[in-house]
Amino acid sequence: MRTQVVIIGSGPSGLLLGQLLAKEGIDTIILEQKSKDYVLGRIRAGVLEEGAVRLIEQAGAAERLHQQGLIHDGTEIAFDSARHRIDFKGLTGKTVTVYGQTEVTRDLMDARASIGAPTVYEALDVSLHAIESDRPIVRFRANGTVQEIECDYVAGCDGFHGVSRRSIPEDRLKAFERVYPFGWLGVLVDKPPASNELIYVNHERGFALCSMRSTTRSRYYLQCRVDENVEDWPDDKFWEELTRRLDPEAVSKLSTGPSIEKSIAPLRSFVAEPMRFGNLFLAGDAAHIVPPTGAKGLNLAASDVAYLSSAIIDWYRRNSRGGLDAYAGRALARVWKAERFSWWMTQILHRFPEESGFDQRIQRAELEYLFSSTAAQTALAENYVGLPY
Ligand code: FAD
Ligand code: PHB
Repeated sequence: MRTQVVIIGSGPSGLLLGQLLAKEGIDTIILEQKSKDYVLGRIRAGVLEEGAVRLIEQAGAAERLHQQGLIHDGTEIAFDSARHRIDFKGLTGKTVTVYGQTEVTRDLMDARASIGAPTVYEALDVSLHAIESDRPIVRFRANGTVQEIECDYVAGCDGFHGVSRRSIPEDRLKAFERVYPFGWLGVLVDKPPASNELIYVNHERGFALCSMRSTTRSRYYLQCRVDENVEDWPDDKFWEELTRRLDPEAVSKLSTGPSIEKSIAPLRSFVAEPMRFGNLFLAGDAAHIVPPTGAKGLNLAASDVAYLSSAIIDWYRRNSRGGLDAYAGRALARVWKAERFSWWMTQILHRFPEESGFDQRIQRAELEYLFSSTAAQTALAENYVGLPY
């Protein structure tokens, strides 16, 4: 087989890239190791920056997002039993849209199917060859047979555990990492959210987050230990612990019920530099991970894809390699700012197991400064709604 761009992974970054290239008549084949249902069953992010919404529009997959997405003008931060609102719209003129990653993925998959662009699900043992040459080859196994695709470019959109980043020689990649000493236990429930906006909670028992997917479906998170198992958290125990960490008003509006999904995610900051090796370009979680506290993971995948798609389009339409050569630098400049913001949000909102009295006082000072300073709130809002690209 032969195509112009092989995309590894059909998460949001791979699917979005595929659509943006298809709009310009550029052929792609997506190779995804899991089944379509498995990919659609993963519950992950829920907050979209305006830039991500714009790209999904350009990809021709925003109809349902505009019908069902919830526009949020601000968010709340709870500390010392008081809630403080950060007014995104008032401070920056911008808003965010609450619409689940699962729905974004479904809409992009439908858009891809409607133009007949090929995706191979359950593509196993994907391997990359000759990626430094101008004829890279991607090999994989599907339906019991080994197949090969020759292409011009490979887009590594296969997430943190994918094969793309691992195909780059170790001495050509530098990794930067911070692993946090806690995880997030998430629960999805078919009940209306406890508030119109998200509530980020710094509580002495640990962080909590009240989020949502729609007006009838809520998503809640609790800071937990990394070594805990989901089985140790029956629903009753989850609601009891969440109730302890919320303020009385939120508790009075909290609607509990049987969970429809429950999972624990570790928290990590990670960046691999550069995001390119020969004709392999990394995008999204394949190149970087942020802790979810700033709601940046999915949005960074989108901004990478904005840079990468325009670079590839420039090559095919204008024979210009400038965008491809600038890709890693442009993407990383934005990635590191989102890494900083996600690290900072994590730092101010969680309880760290070994924190000293000094650390606690500094955290309190950060929060008190934030609540008292319009400049500090503007800095938070500007990052949360998304830096420009
Ligand atoms: P992914 O969504 O990971 O997609 C990669 C795809 O590649 C997958 O479909 C995978 O099956 C496929 N793949 C992997 N290896 C191979 C291979 N060898 N061959 C072929 N295909 C392969 N972000 C937030 O902002 N808020 C959250 O609450 C949040 N929660 C998260 C919870 C979890 C458990 C995880 C893992 C991430 C979470 N994120 C969250 C981050 C956000 O979901 C990601 O940033 C986003 O999914 C990145 O999209 P992506 O397309 O780059 O990668
Ligand atoms: C979510 O709804 O899953 C969500 C929202 C905001 C975050 C993280 C996760 O910061």
